[in-house]
Amino acid sequence: MDRFIIRGGQRLSGEIHISGAKNAGLKLMAAGLLTSERLILSNVPQIADIRLMAQLLRQHGIDVTAQDDSGRVLAIGGEVTSIEAPYDIVSKMRASILVLGPLLARMRKARVSLPGGCAIGTRPVDMHLRGLEAMGAKISLENGYIHASAPKGLQGDKIVLPFASVGATENLLMAATLAKGRTEIINAAREPEISDLATCLNRMGARITGLGTGSLIIDGVDALHGAEHAIMPDRIECGTYACAAGITGGDVLLVGGQLQDFGAAIQSFEECGVEVSAAPGGIRVRRDQPLRGVDIMTEPFPGFPTDMQAQFMAMLSIAEGASMITETIFENRFMHVPELNRMGAHINVHKSSAIIRGVSRLSGAPVMATDLRASFSLILAGLAAEGETSVSRVYHLDRGYEKVDEKLAAIGADIARITGDS
Ligand code: UD1
Repeated sequence: MDRFIIRGGQRLSGEIHISGAKNAGLKLMAAGLLTSERLILSNVPQIADIRLMAQLLRQHGIDVTAQDDSGRVLAIGGEVTSIEAPYDIVSKMRASILVLGPLLARMRKARVSLPGGCAIGTRPVDMHLRGLEAMGAKISLENGYIHASAPKGLQGDKIVLPFASVGATENLLMAATLAKGRTEIINAAREPEISDLATCLNRMGARITGLGTGSLIIDGVDALHGAEHAIMPDRIECGTYACAAGITGGDVLLVGGQLQDFGAAIQSFEECGVEVSAAPGGIRVRRDQPLRGVDIMTEPFPGFPTDMQAQFMAMLSIAEGASMITETIFENRFMHVPELNRMGAHINVHKSSAIIRGVSRLSGAPVMATDLRASFSLILAGLAAEGETSVSRVYHLDRGYEKVDEKLAAIGADIARITGDS
């Protein structure tokens, strides 16, 4: 297993190119199941989760072909030969559940393994299933699999989500494109990745309005066709590198980043003393004053994103004064806390809140990555710490971050990837 070795204390400056968004790309690939024609996606990030989604689509019979050596342009299309999403893939990546809506809409039946628990909480899929049932699907759970069928096709309906779930909104949105009549998704999630998906679906011939709002209206069509779409930039990768600039007192241009995708995080950066501003070509982030403690609560977009919580906590661990971070989206998403404390942070967790008492210095230590975003919080702490930090289990990072060591080294970090040992 690979690990990263980081020697902290460098002030980061320069440019980082932001990759395409993992959380948009995965759903856009699943949207390829909705038509036999070719969907061409560009700006595809080179990360493990995208490769896993390609593997899943291929075993459904779909061709997924890189259009050039970079692998950043994928052509997706073909006939569905298997309606089953098997446990061995779904258990590795929860976003696999996003094939359920498209398979059911196009093939009128689907068998998808239940994702099961994961490191950041139980994460059920009840809202996905109830929404599809409202659209006329028959659903049963057998032997760990969701069996879904709609022999006469799905029927549009008004669906009120009890919580603005990202995944449920996306599954129902994709299913509704081929349903008969009108579907309304009320209390839909408003994450930018959902608008990116809806924009692509409209290019494929879908009729979706209300993009970016909590009410999506979808008028079903008989068939979708091929299209070309460039995946939006990854706002979480962008925010993560903004924290890298913040924690090191750096000055970094995040090329391709879009400030509007930061939502409430803009205010949180500013309150803690990190300047973020739109600049030609992207977002400029710099800090030339001490970090100050702030209080943060994670919320659905445009609130502060849960996927930035761990990275922000690393930054606040060396801020002046105390901070409180309350996690409202996922249970058990503070697994980075004991590792940050091993590096000298002073963080206490009480139920869904973490109290961070800023310390003047962190010290390098061997630490272990636990999930995708938590892993990066340890790298950030390592960038600011005195001495050497070794982050093991970096396969978590490879799932969602492209070339972490190269991107950070290019702006002055002392980081190396050691391959092969444990
Ligand atoms: C997506 C993102 C993830 C991000 C999250 C919240 C992808 C691949 N993943 O995950 O990175 O952290 O949005 O912004 O895009 N829930 C239910 N029942 C359901 C569905 C969800 O109880 O049917 C709960 C979940 O357990 C969780 C909360 O709702 O506590 C939010 O989940 P959701 O918004 O669906 O997140 P994901 O789509 O899984």
